[in-house]
Amino acid sequence: MIICHCNYIKDREVRAAIRAVRVRQPDAPVVPADIYDWLDRRPECGKCASHMARMIDEDGRVADEASGGGPAVVLQAIAAE
Ligand code: FES
Repeated sequence: MIICHCNYIKDREVRAAIRAVRVRQPDAPVVPADIYDWLDRRPECGKCASHMARMIDEDGRVADEASGGGPAVVLQAIAAE
């Protein structure tokens, strides 16, 4: 699926870039500008930025849950109180 029509960036390129940027900057949040930068592209219309931001959020939730953190752990902690 094409995420950025101006630069012809596909969803799998965005996902790979998100993970690469997380490795490059583990303590800083990933933002759509990082994705353009990693892929050596420049935003034109900017309409894809919100879609990239959602993909970044989704990827973060998946990574949190895979590492044992995330919403499930928070809910368990609240239930235990
Ligand atoms: S759709 Fe990505 S910059 Fe236009």
